[in-house]
Amino acid sequence: MSAHILMTDPAHYAVSYRINPWMRPDAWSSDAGGLTAKARIGSAALAAALERLGARISWAPAAEGLPDLVFPANAAVVLDGKAVLARFRKPERRGEEPLFAAAFERLRAAGDIAEVETLPEGCFHEGAGDAIWDARRGQLWTGFGPRSTKAAGERIAAAFGVAATALELATERFYHLDTCFCPLPGGEVLYYPPAFTEPALKAIRARVAPADLIEATDEDAARFCVNAVGIGRDIVMASAAPDLERRLSERGYRVTEIDLSPFILSGGAAFCMTLRLDHESRPANAQQETTHEHRNADALA
Ligand code: ARG
Repeated sequence: MSAHILMTDPAHYAVSYRINPWMRPDAWSSDAGGLTAKARIGSAALAAALERLGARISWAPAAEGLPDLVFPANAAVVLDGKAVLARFRKPERRGEEPLFAAAFERLRAAGDIAEVETLPEGCFHEGAGDAIWDARRGQLWTGFGPRSTKAAGERIAAAFGVAATALELATERFYHLDTCFCPLPGGEVLYYPPAFTEPALKAIRARVAPADLIEATDEDAARFCVNAVGIGRDIVMASAAPDLERRLSERGYRVTEIDLSPFILSGGAAFCMTLRLDHESRPANAQQETTHEHRNADALA
């Protein structure tokens, strides 16, 4: 099955408040017209790059006064055709909840999603930004601290009946897990160690072999390159430092860079601007591969 990705029309995107240290409303208002135009170009370029890689894009509509709607990664966690809708910690973003609920209802009516669930009120969970599916390991990685709570991450994992490793985020600068942690399709994990507490680093290192850990530099993290979308051997990200591209291509990945600078002014980039709707905890071809392996093992026995 090819990737199916939700994005939001950036028509009303702006940086008009400050709920994370990257957000620069001053920089935005000094060139609102230019940045608005550049944001539209960046969003369209991201969609085009993903479409070139075979993804289908569904669009959620923009709404005036809700600029962060352009980050649908925070709208929900989606796995096996089920969407569990987010509960935003930040009051500035709570108005997005009914709009994303309506968008998911439309996806359900269209048959793109089978089921939509809501978390109880008073729970804080900011969607796939803090619950990242690792297809290789067949588990979620959940981030907690600045936005989502640890308990909400556990609820998410229970809702899908999958294993999860909770990772505590150490700083407001890396306020969602997707700003500092990216499992790649081949099983490597690109991550930024200073964003994590000691127990979180231990948990990562206990589950990912040293050879599979790729450390992002300060510059990679500040350019939001860890906030990347991997599809097969392709990785789509914001403009990268040359060394990161080299390190990823040594491992057989092609990197597509998109100028997402207007979105980095809000603390987001490629991963935040997208939400995968098609992740399966047991993909059909993985099952086939297992069967195949069993057959070979049987044949050898
Ligand atoms: N301004 C947004 C916020 O602070 C950016 C969200 C970026 N999304 C993400 N998944 N990291 O909530």
